[in-house]
Amino acid sequence: MKNNFLLFFFLLLTGMPIVASNSKETFEIGRRTFLLNGKPFVVKAAELHYARIPKAYWEHRIQMCKALGMNTICLYVFWNFHEQQENKFDFTGDKNIAEFCRLAQKNGMYIILRPGPYACAEWEMGGLPWWLLKKKDMVVRSLHPYFMERTEIYMNELGKQLAPLQLANGGNIIMVQVENEFGGYGVNKPYMAAIRDIVRRAGFDKSVLFECDWDSTFELNALDDLLWTLNFGTGANIDKEFKKLSTVRPEAPLMCSEFWSGWFDHWGRKHETRSAEKMVEGIKDMLDRNISFSLYMAHGGTTFGHWGGANSPTYSSMCTSYDYDAPISEAGWTTKKFFLLQGLLNKYRSPKEKPCKTPAPFPIIEIPEFEMKETAVLFEQLPAPILSEDIKPMEEFNQGWGSILYRTTLPATSKYTLLRITEAHDWAQIYVNGKLIGYLDRRKGENQITLPQLPAGSQLDIWVEAMGRVNFGSTIHDRKGITEKVELINSNRETTLLKNWQVYSIPVDYSFVAEKKYEMKVPDGPTCYKASFTIHKPGDTFLDMSTWGKGMVWVNGHNLGRFWEIGPQQTLFFPGCWLKKGKNEIIVLDLKGPSKAVIQGLKAPILDVLREKERNHRQKDETLNLSSESPIYQGSFAATGEWQEIKFETTITGRHFCLEALSSHNGKEQASLAELEIIGTDGKPIPREQWKIRYADSENTRGANATADKIYDLQESTCWMTERKVPYPHQLVIDLGEMKAITGFRYLPSFEKGNPGMIKDFAVYFKSQSFNY
Ligand code: GLA
Repeated sequence: MKNNFLLFFFLLLTGMPIVASNSKETFEIGRRTFLLNGKPFVVKAAELHYARIPKAYWEHRIQMCKALGMNTICLYVFWNFHEQQENKFDFTGDKNIAEFCRLAQKNGMYIILRPGPYACAEWEMGGLPWWLLKKKDMVVRSLHPYFMERTEIYMNELGKQLAPLQLANGGNIIMVQVENEFGGYGVNKPYMAAIRDIVRRAGFDKSVLFECDWDSTFELNALDDLLWTLNFGTGANIDKEFKKLSTVRPEAPLMCSEFWSGWFDHWGRKHETRSAEKMVEGIKDMLDRNISFSLYMAHGGTTFGHWGGANSPTYSSMCTSYDYDAPISEAGWTTKKFFLLQGLLNKYRSPKEKPCKTPAPFPIIEIPEFEMKETAVLFEQLPAPILSEDIKPMEEFNQGWGSILYRTTLPATSKYTLLRITEAHDWAQIYVNGKLIGYLDRRKGENQITLPQLPAGSQLDIWVEAMGRVNFGSTIHDRKGITEKVELINSNRETTLLKNWQVYSIPVDYSFVAEKKYEMKVPDGPTCYKASFTIHKPGDTFLDMSTWGKGMVWVNGHNLGRFWEIGPQQTLFFPGCWLKKGKNEIIVLDLKGPSKAVIQGLKAPILDVLREKERNHRQKDETLNLSSESPIYQGSFAATGEWQEIKFETTITGRHFCLEALSSHNGKEQASLAELEIIGTDGKPIPREQWKIRYADSENTRGANATADKIYDLQESTCWMTERKVPYPHQLVIDLGEMKAITGFRYLPSFEKGNPGMIKDFAVYFKSQSFNY
């Protein structure tokens, strides 16, 4: 460690690659501070994503960040946004990132660039292109030769656009990030070093290069010649977060490269919010210690089109709104968080940073309700099929996004025949002879459905809609459509593999839905609806989708994103810059079908109406009965917010793991747990992809989104939390999915200041058979 530090200090002294300079301005790493033009400088960055903002609104959002009191814009570049098809790069129009950076410069803002190749950001595949998955052996974020080759090509293209905009070249880019939170994915320093070199070779050799991670993971892949920064969110204990980093790099400036202002929303989960007061408190705490920060997000915006990602395990796709409960709302409005933060930042403004007026919001309009009468029934207008003996995922048919229809002829089926799909990614609608049999939802782990008794020769149609590709963790190799096989299982458990498929690609392109023939026809199955409406004065609006099922909306050719009746999001942000005075066109693709095919524009968003029952992990009237069980381990956790490991005396084999929390460190009733890992015989955590929470005695889903499955969602900042007034003991039962030999477990308490709900005494039970309830 000492050597690392010496090398780092050597680089500081020599001013090698960590200094950005030009004749006018320099940005460099000084002793415990950044230096701008040789003077101590605190980076106050506002994260926003140009891909989530209509181009016509870029400057407005930049000015909003400036008015908030920030001096820098921090942004990701999503590789897949710019190279949607292999070798076809696009940096024009709404993808003209250089223009975005110049706009920021014009408004006196510096840029922190986060070019990936991987970003995360709740964006489809974390920003990686889907076509990488055409290679069967692809391992992204690794030294896989093809991944490295494509990464270098992309980075060089980006370099051509942005390297000239580094500060030393007269632009405003001061810092460039290498990869993103790699410690949450793996341990591979050679890979990190290779990405660093690719970034430098692409021309980003005049900016401060850095890598970001969490406090618990930053040392895993830390390179000596990069600056290390940490990510954490509202409510975190700032002292604790930087404790380790300040010890290993006492001379380096400190920076929180993602301070989470709020959080993102998943379909079917409660709308997320975070306290404005706590957010401001955290930022004040950092400013008082001269810690630089980037607020993730200052303005979240909208994940238009098919760009929303997903988290896993458990698979859970992202809503279209990326409002994030950020200080600047999805439509660019001020909020309570905005004013509180602006008030704080005003007090920390340097004389050089002149206050700037908060720009007015764009006009907002209502669109009176109208009916969508013209339809195109997609089953009647399918494109030409491809024949395939075996079922294959959509990537193998050279398709990136949208839906894919698999059609075959069934043999005779007896009563109780099951149709089992391994695996349908992500939403399947199953039809026999054109009649809907049912739906399979990947979020719920659904993979089979009972077929009616049928004579041989019936037509089976499986319509599979791809939601977002996983953007986080090892399940990021998330192929879409049907990934493996489709089988029939009769009542004697005999299995027949279905073959000989006709495969139809249903892309998300506007041209595909626009070119369909629209008629006054009764909708049936996946259907497009078309209408036109007249606008006298364009303005922003929120399309009310609450009477619709599941699908996507295009207005004047712009894809507004996904909607889904389950919520919590019920409206889609529709920027006025995409509206025209006079006649406008709207097309809605609804896979399930609406209760009423009507549209209206509202003046305010509806982001928090969850219409699907909250998925709690305790059935009605169910209570875990441990009276006849013997614990395999009993002990007490230390009163620390760090990861703690418990080792059993012997290896034990089983499938059902129960952690019973018996008391808390603060004497209060609540228990909480951020992450839990179970250790296998090799001393490493066993994979958690197959885990299911079988039982949690209490979950705080009223005030927060704190269900028990948060303990294996790979996010240290989300946790299982019991309801405040429910007394100890608290139990959590995990079904590991298969028999496993285990030797211990690791536990991380909630990260929040004071670690509320920190468990003290506990017992562990582990069995092959299910527990009694
Ligand atoms: C991490 C990632 C970000 C984003 C946030 C959650 O910090 O680095 O890209 O996914 O989590 O919003």
